[in-house]
Formats: sequence, structure tokens, C-alpha cells
Amino acid sequence: MRIHIISESAVQLSAMCAMLEQQFALTSELLGADIRPNDIDAVVVTADLRVIDNISALKKISGKLNRIRKRIFLIDQRNRLSVVQAYALGATHVLSHSIGKAQLLAKLIDYTASDVAPGESLSGGAEAARTGAESLASMFSAVSTGAAIDIQAAKAAASRIADSIAEDGLSDWLATVRRHHEGTYQHCLLVTGIAVDFGLSLGLGKADIERLHSAAMFHDIGKAKIPLAVLDKPGRLDAGERAIIETHPAAGYDALQGNAGVSPEILDAVRHHHEYLDGSGYPDGLCAGSISDLVRVLTISDIFAALIEARHYKPAMSREQAYEIIQSMHGKLETPLVAAFREVALIR
Ligand SMILES: [Fe+2]
Ligand SMILES: [Fe+2]
Repeated sequence: MRIHIISESAVQLSAMCAMLEQQFALTSELLGADIRPNDIDAVVVTADLRVIDNISALKKISGKLNRIRKRIFLIDQRNRLSVVQAYALGATHVLSHSIGKAQLLAKLIDYTASDVAPGESLSGGAEAARTGAESLASMFSAVSTGAAIDIQAAKAAASRIADSIAEDGLSDWLATVRRHHEGTYQHCLLVTGIAVDFGLSLGLGKADIERLHSAAMFHDIGKAKIPLAVLDKPGRLDAGERAIIETHPAAGYDALQGNAGVSPEILDAVRHHHEYLDGSGYPDGLCAGSISDLVRVLTISDIFAALIEARHYKPAMSREQAYEIIQSMHGKLETPLVAAFREVALIR
């Protein structure tokens, strides 16, 4: 496996090389030099993305960078604008620059193990995932800073994901997103794909599918208001932290309310995607009669995505195990919908 390292300083470059040289064949260069992407399996970029010169230097080589399948950016993750910038520059994975050696090695091996042959061009699915992640990063940044949210860009990205699902199917999408992205953006990309596929399997019309993929794309936008220390906590949450997490549906609703282009149905889905038919959900404790069909479909897709994702505190579950759990949630989800979801969960 060949790894190329690009860094903004000689000190960082040699530290990265020292960290990885025993495990991988390495090439490296200082940011600003040209690169030859042939035969490279992954590139690791370490740079402060608040610095304009670094961004310009990366933009200059972005055409070549984007021919490398794995593009891992190590940045200050507490700075959400840097995360957005990294995705805009084509990152497939964004990690904290303070990540330890063992963790970085595990990530690199994990990311490259399931890789396809080098030189193969990015599939339509991978492109849709990249655009989707970029749009999510930009929306999260807008919500956390109070800037305007680009609703149309998010809808266009969701529509591309829908095209990819219609063309290549759900399994391809799940594999692509899990290989290329992680964390909250991975979750939103997975939910969008699963919801679209669920909608297609139910025979929903174009307008309903559009409502569904927009709602899925926006559903967790309120997490932009949750401190990263809670959102990305590597361990179980205590009751206080859980209460903070549970503010995200209403926070998302507040952020989107009043935006032209976000319909009442989408707003309702963002606010109520954690409600259960038996009234045990949050934030409003709605009961069956007040939960729309769109929300019911989104909620099942959301739970399934969360179960099949790897989180800091749990490994990814198989699709079979995840479906079993959904089936066991008696009274909370609509039984005929859960039965219809079987085909999406296990077959499609
Ligand atoms: Fe959520
Ligand atoms: Fe979610």
C-alpha cells in the first residue's frame, strides 16, 4: 500500500513520515510542490485550513489529489469551517490532527482494505457521496455560525444521491458511503440513501421521494448546535449529555424554519424523526395519529442507518441484526411499514 503525505511544514512532514514509515511505502512533499498521483493508494494532508495560502496551494493540486481514492485530511476538527473546507477540497475522510499513531494506522488500514483497484475512476456513487458530504459540511457550518443555509445545494445533492440509488442500488451506496465517510456526515448520507430506497420500494411518486430525500438530508442538521465533545464523545453518554443530544430535532427545526424552500412537511419531519407511535419519543411525545407517513418512513431509515454504522462506542451491526432490532421495537414503529422495510434491509 502506497501512502503519500503532504504537509505545510517540514517538521510535521518528518513527524508523519516517522509515524508511518514502518507500515507503508511512503512518498512525501511540502505543500506547494506538484504531485504525481500515479500508484498512490491514499494521501494524508496535514495543514491548517484557516490559512488562505494553504487553501490556495491545495486548490492548485486538487485535480490531481482527487484522482487518489483515499484523501485523508488531518485538521483541527473543533473548527467547523476547517471541516467544511476539507470536504470542499475533496477530502474523503476528515480526522483530528491530534489523532494517535495507533488510531491513524487503524484508520489507514481500514480505509484501504476494502478499496478497489487504484487508477479506477470515481463511481457515480462516490461522486454523489462527495457532493453530499460537502453540502452537509457547509450546512452544519452555517447552522453553527448562524449563516444562511444553502437549501438548494442540499436538495440538489440529495437528488444526486437519489439518482445514484435508482441506478446502482442500495448495497452499492452503503458500501461507498461507509468506505469514504464517517461520523455525522456518513450518518446523514446513509439515511438519505436508505430513505430513498425505502420510498422506491414502497412505490412512492416523484414528489414524495423528493420530500423524503430532502427531509433525510436535513433531519440531523440540529446536531450542528451540539458541542462536539458530546456529539463525538468516545463512550456512552450520561443522562445530562443525552438530554443535550435530544435537543437536536427542535434545534434543526428552528434553524430551518422560515427558509424558503423548506416545506412544512420537511420541517415536521426534521422536528419529529425521533417520535414513536406509542408516545415515548422526543421532543414532543407525539402519538400515532400525529405522526405523518413521511416521518414514519424517515424514522425507520434513521434507526437502521444508526445501527449499521460503526460508532466510537460500538461496532457496525450487520443488516440482518439491525433489521431484527427494528422488528423488536413493538408499538413504536408502524408494523406494516416495518414488514415492507424487510426487502430494503435485507435484499435490495
Ligand atoms: Fe436525529
Ligand atoms: Fe439521524
